[in-house]
Amino acid sequence: MRSYFIPLLFVTCLFADTAFAQIKVKAKATPDAPTISRHIYGHFAEHLGRCIYDGFYVGEDSNIPNKEGVRLDVVEALKEMKIPNLRWPGGCFADTYHWEDGIGPKKDRPSMLNIWWGNVKEDNSFGTHEFLNMCELLETEPYLSANVGSGTSQEFADWIKYTTHPAGSSPMPELRAKNGRSEPWKVKFWGIGNEAWGCGGNMRPAYYADVYRRFATFSTNWNNADGLVRIASGASSSDYNWTEVLMKNIPKNLIEAIALHHYSVIDWGAKGSAKDFTEAQYFTIMQRALMMEELIQKHVAIMDKYDPDKKVDLYVDEWGGWYEVEPGTNGAFLYQQNTMRDAMLAATTLNIFNNHADRVKMANIAQAINVLQAVILTNEEKLLLTPTYHIFKMYNVHHDAQLIPLAFESPLYIYNNKVLPAVSASASRDKVGNVHFSLVNIDSKKSQAIEIDVAALNLESVTGEILTSDKLQDHNTFENPNKVQTKKFDAAVLANGMLRLDIPPFSVIVLEGTK
Ligand code: AHR
Repeated sequence: MRSYFIPLLFVTCLFADTAFAQIKVKAKATPDAPTISRHIYGHFAEHLGRCIYDGFYVGEDSNIPNKEGVRLDVVEALKEMKIPNLRWPGGCFADTYHWEDGIGPKKDRPSMLNIWWGNVKEDNSFGTHEFLNMCELLETEPYLSANVGSGTSQEFADWIKYTTHPAGSSPMPELRAKNGRSEPWKVKFWGIGNEAWGCGGNMRPAYYADVYRRFATFSTNWNNADGLVRIASGASSSDYNWTEVLMKNIPKNLIEAIALHHYSVIDWGAKGSAKDFTEAQYFTIMQRALMMEELIQKHVAIMDKYDPDKKVDLYVDEWGGWYEVEPGTNGAFLYQQNTMRDAMLAATTLNIFNNHADRVKMANIAQAINVLQAVILTNEEKLLLTPTYHIFKMYNVHHDAQLIPLAFESPLYIYNNKVLPAVSASASRDKVGNVHFSLVNIDSKKSQAIEIDVAALNLESVTGEILTSDKLQDHNTFENPNKVQTKKFDAAVLANGMLRLDIPPFSVIVLEGTK
């Protein structure tokens, strides 16, 4: 038996040296298990390529059905997926963005150059009002990412007042009312800079910690009576020193969450095609994706040292697969297709987040529409839902449900003498008592037989849904938008407290057990 990962508190996963045809999952309900925050299923929308313009926003004059310029087909799809939050306006763009340029009559709004993403003209027609009204339409919580790199703490404090303070309380809410909105919006989540170690200012961690302290100080009154969640710009992947310095130097009364960014990339110099890839490239992407387990364990260990009471949350506010752009598209627009490989990446990553629900309280896949690992792709009036969309929709049963700890042995996915755990799993119990298991088999060729000991759960019936396809490279196109879609799965057998099923290669199954 090879113990690949350190056994965890909530999921114990050991890998067997020889590939077992059968694995066991032991499910036990524990009353003190954490709630899986729905915000783990969050999204991200940057002024980058066709994410905002063409993706979310087409303008009031468009022939595409819209409300105040926001595409209604997008609203419908994201509501159906139950999008819990949306991070905006960046990303790198956030540290060049001056929110006051994006309010008031559109004809008077100044333009700017989007220096990070193709030097295209940004006319600021989609600004604070458009974004926050859109969040209300989507029934999702906004997460505003503030400019620290080229902005001021005054600008940041004014944005908070402009968006959240009651009418008449100070000049900022008065300006908001003049611009057509008298009631404040509800904005709880505030990012203080983005990638401060890179495009957010190339700062060193101790310097950023001080800058953060200043911005956080002017964000609230004495005791954060408005209950803002202030999010420190976090580490890139395994930069543990960044987390260490921030956790050590930022007083706990000034911080509610620290971020982490991790992209699954084969090689930054040769990222490979999003849809024409080899098994070797698939294996590497899965290796990078599963690294999330180790990253969370190690960043959390540092956080535990400085914050043993777990007051500061970990937000993985950028994650996903990053490949070459689709041939013929603008290299700076990061438009990529999305295949069954991305479904495997999303499903395993979300299981990791679920199993770390005690500390990971938010995550945001990059990005929602037409950029990187998108859930939606658009082409003029056409829209398609990607395999990643289907995973988010299948997994929404875990939103705000209580985690059910699992312990299991996974068989190996072996490729070229390298190994990965083939099976990933997480489980939860929702508010009405239904139990859900999300099970993934990443092996490219072999099915996995699964046995789940559910005796402790007293289940009477089980239904399910599966996402599977013929080839790992399968994806949806505007010509064939439903090639990859979920199907009913009724092959799970419940008998004598055991649940048995086979998961086909590179497939995801979500089971619902009811009493
Ligand atoms: O998501 C694309 C970019 O990746 C973001 O702008 C930046 O934060 C990250 O490097």
